[in-house]
Amino acid sequence: MIIGVPKEIKNNENRVALTPAGAAELVKRGHEVYVQSEGGIGSGFHNQDYLAAGAKILPAIEDVYGIAEMIIKVKEPIEQEYKLIKEGQILYTYFHFASSEGLTNAMLKTKAICLAYETVELPDRSLPLLIPMSEVAGRMSVQEGAKYLEKTYGGYGVLLGGVPGVPPAKVLVIGGGIVGTEAAKMAAGLGADVTIMDISLPRLRYFNDIMPANVKTMMSNEFNIREMVKTHDLVIGAVLIPGTKAPHLVTREMLKTMRPGTVLVDVAVDQGGCFETTKATTHTDPVFTIDGVIHYCVANMPGAVPRTSTIALTNATLQYAIQIAGKGWKQACIDSAPLRKGLNIVGGKIVYKGVADAFNLPYQEVESVL
Ligand SMILES: NC(=O)c1ccc[n+]([C@@H]2O[C@H](COP(=O)([O-])OP(=O)(O)OC[C@H]3O[C@@H](n4cnc5c(N)ncnc54)[C@H](O)[C@@H]3O)[C@@H](O)[C@H]2O)c1
Repeated sequence: MIIGVPKEIKNNENRVALTPAGAAELVKRGHEVYVQSEGGIGSGFHNQDYLAAGAKILPAIEDVYGIAEMIIKVKEPIEQEYKLIKEGQILYTYFHFASSEGLTNAMLKTKAICLAYETVELPDRSLPLLIPMSEVAGRMSVQEGAKYLEKTYGGYGVLLGGVPGVPPAKVLVIGGGIVGTEAAKMAAGLGADVTIMDISLPRLRYFNDIMPANVKTMMSNEFNIREMVKTHDLVIGAVLIPGTKAPHLVTREMLKTMRPGTVLVDVAVDQGGCFETTKATTHTDPVFTIDGVIHYCVANMPGAVPRTSTIALTNATLQYAIQIAGKGWKQACIDSAPLRKGLNIVGGKIVYKGVADAFNLPYQEVESVL
């Protein structure tokens, strides 16, 4: 198959959809890989690295879309790319259709095959192409939290791990999924006094078994959260209720009970945030302060560490790209139930119910296009 990897043109997006190692795997299997010149530069991969892996470099985005049977990307196409997409072309990328009617209609019009990373789903209902980004955001939440706890950034001025004779900082992680687990591990590794909360008792039992001694568990409820935020230096929001907005677990009125210089990191900001006072921020202006409490609410945290994020993402996406390239999208989706779940739009038809429901558009069972 002829595979194209365009340079991401969405504002501040430095990831790339294929590493030289990934290109080499595809080339080894007899596929042709075309990468847009400097496509990987934001993640530290040079044209020379792709050439050495057996890929070819094309100068412009139009050349990549023009030649490719399958486009592998990171972010959804933006308006200037719409006209480059051809009927029957496979687009394998994050789409998040349900949050954009404009994108959904544009992709319906192209009659392309849209395989969305975010809906590829394993039998245990986990989302293997979202997990790597949650891992990055979870680990990063502690790094960012530690930074904003420094006095120069307005923080309370505590070191996460303390020193001999001085107790460590207290870190509260609300939500013990992928993000929360990684956050708790990082904070614990730095020596902080960590408490992780979840509404799932089996999950808390699991943490109790596997986490180091400086991680305690607590049931998540309003009473406990209200008490805990009074004494904690860093609070990380990491909850997710699939398909709906995050609940506001830390309220505006609770902020008044916290010490000035407390830091809140709301990783769940992309689902509306689990703190009432959350509003999405960007890497160029990541924090704001209310009642002396610092809020860090960047919606695309992995974007700050594109090298790590690119490698983490492609480690997960490549196996499916190999299946699609080797068998064609139809056979690959017939053979793989997880990949089949990734089909959102096929040849002008919506085949993913959540997307059709979001905009009251007609829906067809995915089986009807296979
Ligand atoms: N900001 C970013 O850059 C970024 C990056 C990746 C993920 N995220 C977001 O982070 C959030 C967490 O993602 P995840 O992959 O860890 O999800 P996950 O499904 O793995 O975990 C969510 C956890 O929240 C728990 N939960 C639900 N309601 C709760 C409550 N009231 N109190 C405590 N816990 C509760 C669930 O039991 C579950 O364990 C999501 O909103 C996701 O979209 C943001």
